[in-house]
Amino acid sequence: MDVLLWIFFIGVDVTVNQDEISDHETFQLEFDRATKHWYIRTMQDKYWTLESSGGIQANAHKGSSNSLFDMVWQGDGSVAFVANNGKYVAAKKSGHLYANSDKVEDMEKFYFFLINRRSLVLKCEQGFVGYKSSTSSKLESNKACYETNMVERKDKGICYFKGSSNDKYWRVAEDGSIDVDADTADGFYIELREPSKLCLKTTHGNYLVADKNGAFRVNGSDPSCATLWEY
Ligand SMILES: *[C@@H]1O[C@H](CO)[C@@H](O)[C@H](O)[C@H]1NC(C)=O
Repeated sequence: MDVLLWIFFIGVDVTVNQDEISDHETFQLEFDRATKHWYIRTMQDKYWTLESSGGIQANAHKGSSNSLFDMVWQGDGSVAFVANNGKYVAAKKSGHLYANSDKVEDMEKFYFFLINRRSLVLKCEQGFVGYKSSTSSKLESNKACYETNMVERKDKGICYFKGSSNDKYWRVAEDGSIDVDADTADGFYIELREPSKLCLKTTHGNYLVADKNGAFRVNGSDPSCATLWEY
């Protein structure tokens, strides 16, 4: 099983099983390859588990199918969780988590940040994401040399990326390509799809793709057309 450490920013104070959980809580995500769903494990080594009441409790020592959640990425950079009863998990004002929602509104939205990866090297089938040439600040996706991108965390799931070789931020150019030359950053969202694969999306909701000629550029908002980046 693959284990990752993520931090979730939850909009309300959430209490699971009477234990106080601060709004900057850290969880481990474990991916189940057979179902492509995730186990959410607390730092106290307990799994989020769906109870027959629809409540989510962090009380199981071992994951069962009631501990598997589907992560559904939302257009605004948040993520929703679908429990084993097919309902979305909502953080109630009382501070408890319940899987009883049919749609995603504010209470069903969670924000996260990958805390054990402060920098990203991106790779696709064509090669690494790196500079077009040694004198260019434009990124391409078919390179043998990669750029290491520092990740800065902002509010509501927004990330800024900064080239480690020139200390400049990623900027979306007019043609949709990415230039690493900005002093003020454009925001991006990271969508985790598998433990070692993620999608990148602008704050306008458009995904970054690897084009066949090696271009690294912003394309449409269709998640099925987004490139899965190995990181
Ligand atoms: C860009 O988006 C279009 C339409 O959503 C899609 O058909 C095309 O394959 C995408 N391009 C790449 C390189 O993924």
